[in-house]
Amino acid sequence: MHRIVDGEKTRLRPASWGFSEAEMQRRFRWSSDDTLQYWSGTIPGGRSYSHFKETVGQRDWPSDGKRISYAILTKDGSLIGMVSCYNIDRRRQTGELGVYLGEQEYWGHGYGTDAIVTFVRHLFADLDFDSIYLHTYESNTRAQRSYLRVGFSVLEKRRRFSPRIGYHEEVKMVITRDAFARLHGLQQHAVTS
Ligand SMILES: CC(C)(COP(=O)(O)OP(=O)(O)OC[C@H]1O[C@@H](n2cnc3c(N)ncnc32)[C@H](O)[C@@H]1OP(=O)(O)O)[C@@H](O)C(=O)NCCC(=O)NCCS
Repeated sequence: MHRIVDGEKTRLRPASWGFSEAEMQRRFRWSSDDTLQYWSGTIPGGRSYSHFKETVGQRDWPSDGKRISYAILTKDGSLIGMVSCYNIDRRRQTGELGVYLGEQEYWGHGYGTDAIVTFVRHLFADLDFDSIYLHTYESNTRAQRSYLRVGFSVLEKRRRFSPRIGYHEEVKMVITRDAFARLHGLQQHAVTS
């Protein structure tokens, strides 16, 4: 069941619950942030703000069930990023993780790792996933260190080409439910009002 889940430093809210006007404007601002786009690959944007607002809901939570997205909030409810699981394969009970903190002043203070632990626990404890994988640039040391702290392990490295950054080394990482449960347990934090 999709619901609000609490971490130690963050709270996650299903994107299907919608966003306030101020939150939508913040997300649109993120979509035109080059540094953020560089590191995280694809952040939903739009030809215009109204086009963005019209299309983002279907991108966050498409009706085909292939993606679910959650807002990353601070404990006092400020929207600082997004975390999602996409390429969902229900038959193999697996999916791909995507995450970014749009508010850069929050980078490097443990919010991202906390949000990832909270989200992955929700996927394993509540949404019947068996394993979660991800792809990241080898040059993205902060992200990799965060994923290693969560318990992801490197599956493979390969050389890729993208129009945005040209040739680069890409790392695929994976975590299973058992490995996560051993490290962090599957018990959710109690939701505080
Ligand atoms: C990736 C991201 C979600 C990580 O969240 P975060 O809150 O910044 O990370 P944390 O504070 O939890 O730190 C994670 C690790 O990176 C380390 N770190 C912090 N700043 C760093 C930096 N500038 N360079 C390298 N490592 C750094 C921390 O020490 C920590 O490692 P440790 O646990 O071994 O000490 C966040 O940085 C982000 O949104 N980055 C931009 C988008 C992006 O890269 N998304 C992922 C694409 S694959």
